[in-house]
Amino acid sequence: MPLTPVLTKRFGTNQPWLIDNYEQLDGYAGLRKALTMEPDALIALVKDSNLRGRGGAGFPTGMKWQFIPQNDGNPHYVVINADEGEPGTCRDLPLMMNDPHSMIEGIVIACYAVRANHAFVYIRGEAVHAIRRVSGAVAEAYAKGYLGTDVLGSGFTVDITVHGGAGAYICGEETALLDSLEGKRGQPRLKPPFPATNGLYDAPTVVNNVGTLASVPYIVLGGAEWFKEMGPEGSPGPCIYSLSGRVTNPGQYEAPMGSTLRELLELAGGMSRGKQLKFWTPGGSSTPMFTQEHLDIALDFDAAIKAGSMNGTSAVMIFDEDDCVVRATLKWIEFYEHESCGKCTPCREGNYWMAQVLERLEHGHGTMEDLETLLDASDNILGRSFCALGDGAASPVMSSLKYFRDEYVRHVEGKGCPFGARVLVGAAGH
Ligand SMILES: Cc1cc2nc3c(=O)[nH]c(=O)nc-3n(C[C@H](O)[C@H](O)[C@H](O)COP(=O)(O)O)c2cc1C
Ligand code: SF4
Repeated sequence: MPLTPVLTKRFGTNQPWLIDNYEQLDGYAGLRKALTMEPDALIALVKDSNLRGRGGAGFPTGMKWQFIPQNDGNPHYVVINADEGEPGTCRDLPLMMNDPHSMIEGIVIACYAVRANHAFVYIRGEAVHAIRRVSGAVAEAYAKGYLGTDVLGSGFTVDITVHGGAGAYICGEETALLDSLEGKRGQPRLKPPFPATNGLYDAPTVVNNVGTLASVPYIVLGGAEWFKEMGPEGSPGPCIYSLSGRVTNPGQYEAPMGSTLRELLELAGGMSRGKQLKFWTPGGSSTPMFTQEHLDIALDFDAAIKAGSMNGTSAVMIFDEDDCVVRATLKWIEFYEHESCGKCTPCREGNYWMAQVLERLEHGHGTMEDLETLLDASDNILGRSFCALGDGAASPVMSSLKYFRDEYVRHVEGKGCPFGARVLVGAAGH
């Protein structure tokens, strides 16, 4: 499988975050080209490339841009979702640390395409290093005329504001993010209306993930056909998979969309200590877990759904034969319980109860009835919650019971965890 150094091609070069070094490696060439095109032609190009949002849901980016009402005389905004809170996910931060200008270049192109003059980068509050790095890069871009009034003499004006969040997972949900950006408590809004018509300050707004926008300059330079050569046609392009847990060399691996875990494990040196793969998440803890049987499933938006999970944030958390699935699920549900914003009952109460039940199962006080309670609670969360955080919380519970029910039973019959207290290193939770 060819490694696809597109998004990460500057990683490891000499200080790639500095604008002079970025410019030497095609930096801002995509923007120069974009400014010679009509905004609608840019939207058509991105649509034609089949680029799908890397934030988790895989929504087609060109279509999202097209939803923005054009020439309506109102302000439009572009908001970059750099909250990156999904357990196991570590793509946007390395991208912003190594190559912040690729995101900035993508932002300016997106703003030009959807006729927006102001963009906001919403970065997870704990990531002070990334806030500093991106702020520094934005200042450099202003100094070189890529931002501000009359960008490169084109007559187009655009400003970028970098905003630090306060470290709430729910603020990655796009409407909660918008509320948080407006200075309110970060809770999801009722949809519709969607951000495309009523977003930031009630104005038409595009919300895109860091990796989505960082892909745009390459599409402008390379063309839609080139982009579609990587991965499956319906879900193409390069993808940064973050591999964590029981793998020899955890880290970020860029590969074409639709790569399989077998291929990714090869890149990452295989399972650590030669152990057997037991279960894994294809796209973070909100995506139903897979097992050994799924080693050859293509990890792209469509194939992963067909196989019963989702590509999500392409955060591949890997667990081996010595890891306890009940314990991993408990840790994830504790995360959702903590991060639930409390707005709706199924998620607020359901996660609280699931955490209690998993806790007693793991520590030897569970009953067979608890397994049904878990299924019942997750069934009442899935599809009945106000936002996708709730649905995500049901995933580890339902999928672990589907594939490893007998391990739950062993916890009940053996009055405790058969695996002892092995610590999960860097895999579950944040
Ligand atoms: C609880 C929750 C957390 C989310 N966190 C993020 C995040 O950190 N980054 C992100 O890009 N999308 C996140 N999303 C998805 C966003 O709501 C939205 O779909 C995405 O920003 C759209 O960008 P894209 O079209 O470029 O993928 C989250 C969704 C939910 C429900
Ligand atoms: S599912 Fe409900 S309680 Fe949970 S985070 Fe979303 S809105 Fe808040």
